Amino acid sequence: MISITTILNKTHFTKNDLISLLQTEGEERIALFEKAAAIKKTYVENKVYLRGLIELSNICTKNCLYCGIRKNNLKINRYNLKDEQVLEAAEFALKNKYGSIVIQSGEISNTSFTGRIEKLLREIKRMSNNELGITLSLGEQSYETYQNWFDAGAHRYLLRIETSNRELYKKLHPADRNHDFDRRLQCLKDLKNIGYQTGTGVMIGLPFQTHEHLAGDLLFMRDLDIDMVGMGPYIEHVDTPLFQFRDLLLPVKKRLDLSLKMIAILRILMKDINIAATTALQAIDKIGREKAIKAGANVMMPNITPGDFRDEYALYHNKPCTHENADDSTSCLEACVHITGHEIGYDKWGDSKHYLNRAKYSKQ
Ligand code: 5AD
Ligand code: SF4
Repeated sequence: MISITTILNKTHFTKNDLISLLQTEGEERIALFEKAAAIKKTYVENKVYLRGLIELSNICTKNCLYCGIRKNNLKINRYNLKDEQVLEAAEFALKNKYGSIVIQSGEISNTSFTGRIEKLLREIKRMSNNELGITLSLGEQSYETYQNWFDAGAHRYLLRIETSNRELYKKLHPADRNHDFDRRLQCLKDLKNIGYQTGTGVMIGLPFQTHEHLAGDLLFMRDLDIDMVGMGPYIEHVDTPLFQFRDLLLPVKKRLDLSLKMIAILRILMKDINIAATTALQAIDKIGREKAIKAGANVMMPNITPGDFRDEYALYHNKPCTHENADDSTSCLEACVHITGHEIGYDKWGDSKHYLNRAKYSKQ
């Protein structure tokens, strides 16, 4: 068998190489993380960029089998922030020098929603004098909608593929036209084509998921030449159909470890992309995000949704910081980033270097 050191020194990785890296333990595991840290230092430095996360609404028209805010979960209270609340949150991000925001919501595609987003985008751009960068995470939409939002000022878009394996995708979603793998893939291509910095990601530690699937996910992201990635552990939610397979799951510690390895390997594969330390990591380990930054992540998304609504945006259980106000989160961020030997890139959009190298487009 080929040694981990040999694999780590390669410039082109096979699926089997990636599977071997996912299975590392002990010293080999440490060598993997050291390699990822060295690459990160060279290509994206020790900066961590912030995106203030605004969870606009937990209303969703879809029924993904793993998600706590799926349409058929009647046990949660649905909310929809008022425009003033979104603008206030954006102002908070601006004042606190976050540099950019993410607007996330359950998937809605009627024209009153898409028009509302367009208006909000223009308003945030105007209010911040184009200082705030805006990432959207609003699911699958038509080409025209993506284009309108881009024209209104959004420049980054996150749409997770969830898993790049079609068979596994089918196990995680209802078998209907509303949950179609090919449509999702087309959306990612549309986003890239329009000119967004395009982000995707997967869940790690899903029932039925193998190391081979995860290695396939890494190759999928590389082959799609993606600019940013947000991926984290799957966390079971009691009020979802997928909960019935909880006995098949890895212990949470293992899911965390696998997530950190995915981040480290992705950093080695795609040296200059943006990788987020996701909230789900923090949900299963208090310092999960810090560990992710050390493993190769360079973006954090502090939640700046008005406090009253955070509990309701429960994709999974144990969502962190839902009882804190946004100010608490800011000071806890400072501390946590410093512990990792990194610095917060205040007042910066923190665009993906990968994208900039491709498209030669930037504010700063
Ligand atoms: N565990 C972890 N992540 C989840 N998501 C949804 N449900 C869960 C869960 N149970 C993630 C999906 C989705 C994003 C908004 O949240 O990857 O794209
Ligand atoms: Fe809706 Fe997204 Fe949850 Fe699917 S994962 S049910 S699209 S919020």
